[in-house]
Amino acid sequence: MTSPVETIQSVQLNKEDELILLDQTLLPNKKVFLHLSTIKEIWDAIYHLKVRGAPAIGIAAAYGIYLETKKSKAVTFTGLYDDFQKNKQYLASSRPTAVNLFWALNRMEERLLKETEKSITEIKNALKEEAEKIRMEDELVCRSIGEHALSLLKPGFGILTHCNAGTIATAKYGTALAPIYLGKEQGYEFKVFADETRPLLQGARLTAWELQEAGVDVTLICDNMASIVMKEGKVQAVLVGCDRVAANGDTANKIGTSGLAILAKHYQIPFYVCAPLSTVDIECDTGDDIPIELRNPDEITKSWYEKPMAPKNVKAYNPAFDVTDHELITGIVTEKGIAYPPYKDSLINLVKQVR
Ligand code: MRU
Repeated sequence: MTSPVETIQSVQLNKEDELILLDQTLLPNKKVFLHLSTIKEIWDAIYHLKVRGAPAIGIAAAYGIYLETKKSKAVTFTGLYDDFQKNKQYLASSRPTAVNLFWALNRMEERLLKETEKSITEIKNALKEEAEKIRMEDELVCRSIGEHALSLLKPGFGILTHCNAGTIATAKYGTALAPIYLGKEQGYEFKVFADETRPLLQGARLTAWELQEAGVDVTLICDNMASIVMKEGKVQAVLVGCDRVAANGDTANKIGTSGLAILAKHYQIPFYVCAPLSTVDIECDTGDDIPIELRNPDEITKSWYEKPMAPKNVKAYNPAFDVTDHELITGIVTEKGIAYPPYKDSLINLVKQVR
């Protein structure tokens, strides 16, 4: 058995300058790598969750804006910058909640603006270099999150997780799953409970798959089973990833996360959010400022089965994320350390170390 942590890169650029994406919509049944080179294909891959997970979306967007800007016929910096801006706006419209998308595009723009004196070819090369840096840094960041999070856990812990914040959602290791992989290397033998994560089943299709492939003890549960598993004393910590953290610590993550946090509080189980500092959006004062993606109700009524799962034309409501109130979060684990309440102070201190 070869662990996906060591073998799978879900987002990378190949030597031919194509974006190679592991199509996450086909897992766990097929491992298909897409070769993409147009901005339309990359937008579509983000929108349709072929690439998903906040850090992986950011990395894909960085490569996407490089690949499209490379095709620009502009001969002046202003012309190139205009093309870059159009590409940026387009990619930014693919999904609204994960701030890493906007963070990565802004970082690419900052790099472009540092290169104004260079030739058009040199500027294009600089964009490629920056996109590669974003991917490589993410791997180091995730490893560091894993090390900090592991310090909170003991061998044999039962850990509940939601959605997929694993290696395929990032450059490597994942965020919430990083301590599980690092713990495995050190013989911690965690028992992981993976929520299936309706409606798109990231927990069942992706988390259960990647943990099983890595030889981690993983048990799949339906989302509505979290309470009984906690009540039975099987969970000593909840670890989740996230898509955007507001300045006060309110955290947007996959729909269902806030309910888990409420349950964890009831059963007095620590609830940790694992996030790179690129996921912290200090421009959002509170979770109320975080845009929540509404997706096609068909994902609830039709997905995954050949036959409809609900009566034809029934109304369905499909918010893809919810916001967990900061008061329910025990700690936010970042690459620079663990933020504890009051988050307004602790988060800003960590953010200042990287911006
Ligand atoms: O809709 P998705 O699958 O992109 O949602 C992903 C999540 O909610 C993850 O928990 C989050 O992006 C963190 S990934 C390290």
